[in-house]
Amino acid sequence: MKRIAVLTSGGDCSGMNACIRAVVRYGIVAGLEVFGIFRGYEGLIKGNLKQLHPTSVSNIIGRGGTVLKTARSVEFMTEDGQRKAVEVLKKNKIDGLITIGGNGTFKGTNVLADRWKIAAIGIPATIDNDISGTDFSVGSDTAVNTALDAIDKIRDTATSLERIFVVEVMGRSEGFIAVAVGLSGGAEDVLVPTMKYDINKICEDITKGRRRGKVSWIIVVAEGAATGSEIADLIQKKTGFETRATTLGHIQRGGAPTAFDRILASRLGAEAVQALIDGQRGKMAAIVSGQIKMIALDAPPSQLNRQRKLDQKFYKLIRILAT
Ligand code: F6P
Repeated sequence: MKRIAVLTSGGDCSGMNACIRAVVRYGIVAGLEVFGIFRGYEGLIKGNLKQLHPTSVSNIIGRGGTVLKTARSVEFMTEDGQRKAVEVLKKNKIDGLITIGGNGTFKGTNVLADRWKIAAIGIPATIDNDISGTDFSVGSDTAVNTALDAIDKIRDTATSLERIFVVEVMGRSEGFIAVAVGLSGGAEDVLVPTMKYDINKICEDITKGRRRGKVSWIIVVAEGAATGSEIADLIQKKTGFETRATTLGHIQRGGAPTAFDRILASRLGAEAVQALIDGQRGKMAAIVSGQIKMIALDAPPSQLNRQRKLDQKFYKLIRILAT
């Protein structure tokens, strides 16, 4: 292995830059030439790449977003697009590829490794934290802390005006951000796509709570479960209490990464390079119980150390502690 490349793909998240930095510097120290591919698989197809040096990644460990830019490529989903991408890798004598992204990115990485026999390794990076086989994805801790900061602020106004607030967070079809922020922000309830909720029961609890002197409510809604505004409208209509909705949106994706995300990104980046040097491919660099492990990208869910499914215990604890 002489020459490797790195790309970021799909939704950006904080910590991607820390990861790029680790790949570049670990790779160079190990004697490799490292190339950066711009705009994900889309840029790969177009041959948009350049060699990176230790100074190319100076002072990016604390910056959100990705200096390599990112994209969601439709062309790469086609066989023709993949062929073009492989030709670019061959033409530039790239022996190994590291992809940084979420589930969509990993589908592409797996196709490259499996069908096109490219030495490719993925690094999980998404605010959604929904990748099976790793306990954490880079960027999820920062997103939770950003949402938590917003919720703490919303609590101040909710308490002062004795209002109910519905806060919508991101998370695609899972509710990891919602549950983490619900527990850490002391939310009264959390609505996630994977669990049924009863709006009448939520309204009954609010009415009962008001009778015994409770003043404010924060109900966290994961975007895949409902929109914050529809839940707020229902609550106001059914309880008669003033209810507001706030959608946190893309602020959850940006900003300086937390120490946790910087450390995770640095460890995963270095291990991914080492895995390529050691001849591994078609794998994800994952963190499992504090240890970095290489997990096959096409492993069936039953073989993964842990499926990324919401822990019901967390959900129940939120309700108990909101009493
Ligand atoms: O996967 C990250 C994510 O931020 C999801 O939580 C959200 O559903 C989606 O991306 C939003 O995508 P876009 O930025 O393309 O609107």
